[in-house]
Amino acid sequence: MLQLRDSTGPATVVRRADYTAPAFWIDTVHLCFDLDPAKTRVLNKMTLRRNPDVPAAALRLDGDDLNLARVLVNGAGTSFKMDSGQLVLENLPEGNEPFALEIFTTCAPVKNTKLMGLYVSNESFFTQCEAEGFRRITYFMDRPDVMASFTVTLRADKEKYPVLLSNGNLTDSGDLDDGRHFATWIDPHKKPCYLFALVAGKLVCREQHIISRSGKEHLLQVYVRPGDMDKTEHAMQSLIKSVIWDEARFGLPLDLERFMIVATSDFNMGAMENKGLNIFNTKYVLANQATATDVDFANIESVVGHEYFHNWTGNRITCRDWFQLSLKEGLTVFRDQEFSMDLCADPSARAVKRIEDVRVLRTAQFPEDAGPMAHPVRPDSYIEINNFYTVTIYEKGAEVVRMMQTLVGRAGFAKGMTLYFARHDGSAVTCDDFAQAVADANPDSALAKLLPQFKRWYSQAGTPRLAATATYDAEAHTYTLNFAQSCPATPGQESKEPFVIPVSLGLIGAASGAALPLQVHGQSNVGDSHLFVMTQASESITFEKVLEEPVPSILRGFSAPVVVDYAYTDAQLLALLANDPDPFNRWEAGQRLALLIAIKYIASDAGGSSAIGQNDTYISAMRAVLRHPTLDAAFKELVLTLPSETYIADQLEVIDPQRIHAVREAMREQLATALFEDWQWAYAAHSQNGAYQPDTLSSGRRALAGLALNYLCLAARSSGDAIWPGKAYQRFKDADNMTDRFNALNALVQSGHALATPALARFHSLFQFEELVLDKWFALQAGCTDRGGQVLPAVRQLLKHPNFNIRNPNRARSLIFSYCSANPGAFHRADAAGYVFWSEHVLELDAINPQVAARLARALDRWKKLAEPYRHAAQAALQRVAAKADLSNDVREVISRALA
Ligand code: PHE
Ligand code: ZN
Repeated sequence: MLQLRDSTGPATVVRRADYTAPAFWIDTVHLCFDLDPAKTRVLNKMTLRRNPDVPAAALRLDGDDLNLARVLVNGAGTSFKMDSGQLVLENLPEGNEPFALEIFTTCAPVKNTKLMGLYVSNESFFTQCEAEGFRRITYFMDRPDVMASFTVTLRADKEKYPVLLSNGNLTDSGDLDDGRHFATWIDPHKKPCYLFALVAGKLVCREQHIISRSGKEHLLQVYVRPGDMDKTEHAMQSLIKSVIWDEARFGLPLDLERFMIVATSDFNMGAMENKGLNIFNTKYVLANQATATDVDFANIESVVGHEYFHNWTGNRITCRDWFQLSLKEGLTVFRDQEFSMDLCADPSARAVKRIEDVRVLRTAQFPEDAGPMAHPVRPDSYIEINNFYTVTIYEKGAEVVRMMQTLVGRAGFAKGMTLYFARHDGSAVTCDDFAQAVADANPDSALAKLLPQFKRWYSQAGTPRLAATATYDAEAHTYTLNFAQSCPATPGQESKEPFVIPVSLGLIGAASGAALPLQVHGQSNVGDSHLFVMTQASESITFEKVLEEPVPSILRGFSAPVVVDYAYTDAQLLALLANDPDPFNRWEAGQRLALLIAIKYIASDAGGSSAIGQNDTYISAMRAVLRHPTLDAAFKELVLTLPSETYIADQLEVIDPQRIHAVREAMREQLATALFEDWQWAYAAHSQNGAYQPDTLSSGRRALAGLALNYLCLAARSSGDAIWPGKAYQRFKDADNMTDRFNALNALVQSGHALATPALARFHSLFQFEELVLDKWFALQAGCTDRGGQVLPAVRQLLKHPNFNIRNPNRARSLIFSYCSANPGAFHRADAAGYVFWSEHVLELDAINPQVAARLARALDRWKKLAEPYRHAAQAALQRVAAKADLSNDVREVISRALA
């Protein structure tokens, strides 16, 4: 057993199989807060009743870091005891009648550096309760299946905290003695306590009234610090679009009179879907063209959508227990992805969004699924639930929902959602309940027929591999694809049963490049795409009337979260890159071509850039895409961006990060110089875009111009030419928007040009009062291409910069994470200095904010795959962290799994 403890007692492994329904229900809660940074007083008056469906037991209330002053049952004192942080009441009234429980506690928000529970940020109060933060506010049954009606009264100094917010509707407010005031909020919806929120402080808001389809009026508000009002328009527009979309696509209307978003600069995650009072990291709210990039604008739209969509998928129907987290997160990520795609003006922009989402899945989730923290979409156990807000729960969970939609169709999926709400609205349910509803709404679908097997996607971890081989019979005109699936062992799961894998297929004429019509034996449908639903360990499919030798286009649109192993030749990949009507596989062909080259040179002995050969076919294929008359700019930018070092590493058995870095850099230099004239053309053709708008079309043009400038400065580096760095500097100075300005700065910094220094200084002085822009400034330097080890000393220097503050999670991420988790070429040093830096900061952060520390701890997840000397050095660093006696459960769980 692991020896773990924190203020709530020794850590224990929580198991899904141990779930039992609560012994009590909490019907109503009335919370009264006297807000004070040093000592906030919380009076919690509840009505409870025994749950008649389970055997009688003591009432156990969770608590963490609270000072308990009083407990009254039906107005009278009572006996209680403390057990592993829980408040235990044994002598409660018998019978099923409701009784009153009153608990008075205090806490110290100003000392709360974990940012869980009630905390202070920039002199305002905020709360964060998911997953288990409510217990840091008051004693409660802190579990999502206990849903109560909340009434909240806030009292605070009126001058310091003019705005007092909580969930639901404002029913009363007014002045009190000694300059204090109060506000009372009643939430009309029952909710689990993790959706509770309060905010108090000096905030201003942008507001708008809207009338929804049903004719109901709603008030939408976006609260920010004074001075940030000019950065709220995009969030408001995103919210309005979200309301319209959920009603149009799924028939889900806004169920509140008032919907509020509040931004805070101290936040552990992206944002939180508290009922009617979403609290956001400023990064996902604040934007204007001077301070935010196109990517920021797009992220804000999708995160605002994500939190809004939780109002139904998460809040109206919530999770029975935290093992079901993907019930709300996988589904809501799927919904926000669909939202962003539906907002795209054309199919090409939809495909670009899909490629971006898959890129995240493959560079972050696939490695997770192959490492020590691998877990199923519905985990079986955890020590610290905060460690399970992962790309597996979110992104792979979304892929599982997407496969369901693929199997039942878009309309069938909408019917499934309707049935899900008809059955479960207002309750706390499981992933099984969701899958069952989608299947039951589509009784004739493949999903309904295969449901138990399909649900292995929830229970089995690991990324399945789909190995394909093909035979073409030129005489019989038949083409057979043979598939074999397998899934590697993951911690606690040695062998896996076959998955249901929807494989979207097409065939391209190897010579003609034409999309070939598909005829499957015994089936009447002839189209040029076919959905093959694989269920066995190995299976094949034969196409008939195939008149020319084809190239297979496998897993179109990335129809399942698997790795496809097919021994494509260069010629076949070139055919797909030039002709596949499926844009995803067209992009994929380009990535595979680049990977083949990268892997070949990584494996070869010769080091250095001179060793990477001519690669003429690859270069001309890239030129053809770049110069293509009809492909759009955003798509070109994706094709011409090489696979990341992390993704390349994930393809290899043994990872030599320096070798990967050197080869990828050599390939970038080759693309830069060999396509020099093409990049000049691309820059000229895409850098003038008129008045700034963050729409997909002009964002794509800016992205391609940015990539071109990057390559042009890189080429200038080898040729010694000063023209392009000069132009980049000019662009940096003159740009009227952050995207162009930052891309120009990035081009100078990444190419290591001398002008990078004055540009960085100028950027800092221009934006020294813009926190989010300063984050970019730190991140750019920490993420800079390493040339001889200069990045780490620069990062150490930046730790001492007056604008650095390790307590602010965004700032810590911008400097420390950008170096340790996002810059492998600089982090994995032969002298182990990167790992020393990492272990120091995991420990330093752990004492401040264990959640943030545990995320940093994951930077060495894949250490066992490293080549020497990295492997031993990484192990030593992990052991140094493990040796610390009083680690948080969060960090302890990550480190012990890594070392196991
Ligand atoms: N539930 C939030 C979301 O996905 C994420 C979150 C988790 C935020 C835990 C804070 C704490 O939108
Ligand atoms: Zn979410």
